[in-house]
Amino acid sequence: MTGNRTFTMIKPRAVAENHTGAIIQIIEDAGFKVISLKKTQLSSALAGKFYEVHKDRPFYEELCGFMSSGPIVPMILEKENAVADFRTLIGATDPAKADEGTIRKLFATSVGENAIHGSDSDENAQIEAAFFFSEFERF
Ligand code: RTP
Ligand code: MG
Repeated sequence: MTGNRTFTMIKPRAVAENHTGAIIQIIEDAGFKVISLKKTQLSSALAGKFYEVHKDRPFYEELCGFMSSGPIVPMILEKENAVADFRTLIGATDPAKADEGTIRKLFATSVGENAIHGSDSDENAQIEAAFFFSEFERF
């Protein structure tokens, strides 16, 4: 069944600043159920693979460096209309432009170090979930 799951990861700075618990609380309070969760750290090469779609963008190397700089918390989440509703919950990529109350507004420090990732389509949610959780090669 598609449309009811998304993939997220809490990014290194938010994990390092001990915001993991607060962020998961906001996610659960918004009606998302945590299906899978772990704490792990990416190599720069694996971060590069995850964000391969951005490989020609000027911020790619900085992004790979940041995303491999410390532990992250990837999760699979379930809720009706999960992808779109989760993107609303996290707010705009640039925290300065994110709506009040969004996770990025509350916890991000810059566009690069913006606290949390959210899949942008059902198809990418599936691919990204399988990247971290082998049991989710299919939802
Ligand atoms: P994400 O994939 O992490 O959920 O973020 P997003 O869809 O809101 O933004 P996207 O365009 O996919 O960019 C991926 C991540 O790259 C970093 N970024 N840095 N320095 C910059 O100008 C810049 N632009 C993007 C951010 O960490 C962004 O989340
Ligand atoms: Mg994106």
